[in-house]
Amino acid sequence: NWSMEDFIDLQIEHIREVVGDKKVILGLSGGVDSSVTGVLLHKAIGNQLTSIFVDHGLLRKNEADEVMDSLAGKFGLNIIKVDAKDRFLGKLKGVTEPEQKRKIIGNEFIEVFNDEARKLKDIDFLAQGTLYTDVIESGTDTAQTIKSHHNVGGLPEDLRFQLIEPLRSLFKDETRELGEKLGIPANLVWRQPFPGPGLGIRVIGEITEEKLQIVRDSDYILRKEIAKAGLDREIWQYFTVLPGFRSVGVMGDGRTYDYTIAIRAVKSIDGMTADFAQIPWDVLSDISTKIVNEVGGINRVVYDVTSKPPSTIEWE
Ligand code: XMP
Repeated sequence: NWSMEDFIDLQIEHIREVVGDKKVILGLSGGVDSSVTGVLLHKAIGNQLTSIFVDHGLLRKNEADEVMDSLAGKFGLNIIKVDAKDRFLGKLKGVTEPEQKRKIIGNEFIEVFNDEARKLKDIDFLAQGTLYTDVIESGTDTAQTIKSHHNVGGLPEDLRFQLIEPLRSLFKDETRELGEKLGIPANLVWRQPFPGPGLGIRVIGEITEEKLQIVRDSDYILRKEIAKAGLDREIWQYFTVLPGFRSVGVMGDGRTYDYTIAIRAVKSIDGMTADFAQIPWDVLSDISTKIVNEVGGINRVVYDVTSKPPSTIEWE
């Protein structure tokens, strides 16, 4: 029967004991888990922690700034922000196959992180925001099997640090509670799941700057409208997808031949299965109007009414 305050005190004590006067690095993704890990570690060991935040150019609108303002600004974390957009987009040029896109983004992520980690001297520990669910899903208790690339698996030999995983005994809801207790703002703590490959798997087919901009702008409108309708905690995940085909429309007195935006919104517990969310028609109608009016190059909005299975949540 422990309280979250007890947990924080115990973890801080434990981290200090383990780390001593050594140094720790952490990969920040902007998500809840790594943010909470960062703030907790910073509380324990201050600037013995260096965080690396890789901006792969596939983040949502304002996301990088929000992370920096909050974690570096408000909490004072020492964060190295790497602007790696050109690196990622260069590698992704001409690539259309979803798994290949995922692989490229994952590998590049590790490369960029390792390049930064190598520049730092005398690092002994790597912190990760591994949750209890990750431990179970990996099927083993060793750290080698951490699943997704943004959790920085597969480090080369010269970068084999000791792992610190302070959230290893927590579930997602407990992690959010911990985040709130640590004073992390609600928009970060209650952030919906966001995949490591980011908007890269929401632009179907080849990724271009133009298409990324369309997804980013339409996603921003969708998020604002969902929040305005008070549905942001009720719907588990919601985002827009650019299928990348054009269709005919009419605007003013002219014919248009523009892209379609698809809206994906689901209710789920863990992402393994999901039902499409039944967003009220009037809310959908407002979203559709705003997207077509405010995002250039869009003349049609459709709503994905499939559940998982048979679909997946992301389109790629
Ligand atoms: P799918 O599309 O497989 O997605 O139904 C299930 C959940 O997982 C998220 N997702 C990912 N998360 N790295 C991640 O960290 C990934 O590569 C990745 N792919 C999908 C997805 O957003 C949904 O919440």
